Amino acid sequence: MLQRPRRNRKSEVIRQMVQETHVSAANLIFPLFIVDGTNQKTEVSSMPGIYRYSIDNLLREVESCMNLGLKAFDLFPNIDEALKDKYATESHREEGLYLRAIREVKKHFPEACVVTDVAMDPYSSDGHDGLVENGQILNDETLEILGKMSLAQAQAGADIIAPSDMMDGRVGYIREVLDDNGFSGVSIMSYSAKYASAFYGPFRDALNSAPKFGDKKTYQMNPANQREALIEARLDEAEGADFLMVKPALAYLDVIKLIKDDTELPVAAYNVSGEYAMLKAAVQKGWLNEQRAVTEVLTSIRRAGATAILTYHAKEVLENNWL
Ligand code: PBG
Repeated sequence: MLQRPRRNRKSEVIRQMVQETHVSAANLIFPLFIVDGTNQKTEVSSMPGIYRYSIDNLLREVESCMNLGLKAFDLFPNIDEALKDKYATESHREEGLYLRAIREVKKHFPEACVVTDVAMDPYSSDGHDGLVENGQILNDETLEILGKMSLAQAQAGADIIAPSDMMDGRVGYIREVLDDNGFSGVSIMSYSAKYASAFYGPFRDALNSAPKFGDKKTYQMNPANQREALIEARLDEAEGADFLMVKPALAYLDVIKLIKDDTELPVAAYNVSGEYAMLKAAVQKGWLNEQRAVTEVLTSIRRAGATAILTYHAKEVLENNWL
């Protein structure tokens, strides 16, 4: 045998020398859930170790992450049911929870990178990402609301705006609104290939944002489709996106790879709530080694081609020195 691939695996030093893929703190974005009130920190029951924080505790959490070298955060609000309406008005109310949270984080940690979510669902009385009329999700009418939401987030200090709604044309629309209002420096991380997935369940528990009727299949993608992701990614790039995101990550590694090979833009992947929940549940049962499972998952998402990973594991991997 001329070739014995095992020779490059014979010691830890050689294994590390030939390792092709690495994950570092710089690649990670930590999603954080926010609730109104003070001194709140309540665990999401389907996501052990993940909490909804009131703004005071959010600032403490951000500080402890920053000290670990984790400096990028994606914020999501849990909105009081009484504040929800058909038009998601709360999403662009100056004194609303979300905009306050963005301002506070940027005020205390100007060097932190704040990613903000653009979609109507946390604020909508229908629980959908777009405006609902007669049971239909309207596209172009929704864009106007997404534009207002994006502008309000940029004014509050967002570094990266992340539209997760899957309406057609929203990246271009948001880019124009931002540019016209002097925010040409604010980035857009588009949820380009976002699938109608079963793996968002725990997230919707965390935010109490499940759709009040039907499902999201008229706007989120069919999990059976791969080539369609290229249509979405190419449109978002042409419309001015700075990052293209694939979501979920684990069941869609082929899609990450496909988009990565088709673009020079950085590709992000969202290791979603259900992926976190299933791993944690197996760990709690003693069925998986947590450190090994978590690092394998994150490494695999990087190997598939993701530059940035949005993951609920972000803090624990740094706290425990798992990388
Ligand atoms: C909402 C949104 C969702 C997630 C991020 N933004 C849920 C959905 O589309 O229903 C899911 C994130 C996760 O599951 O961790 N626009």
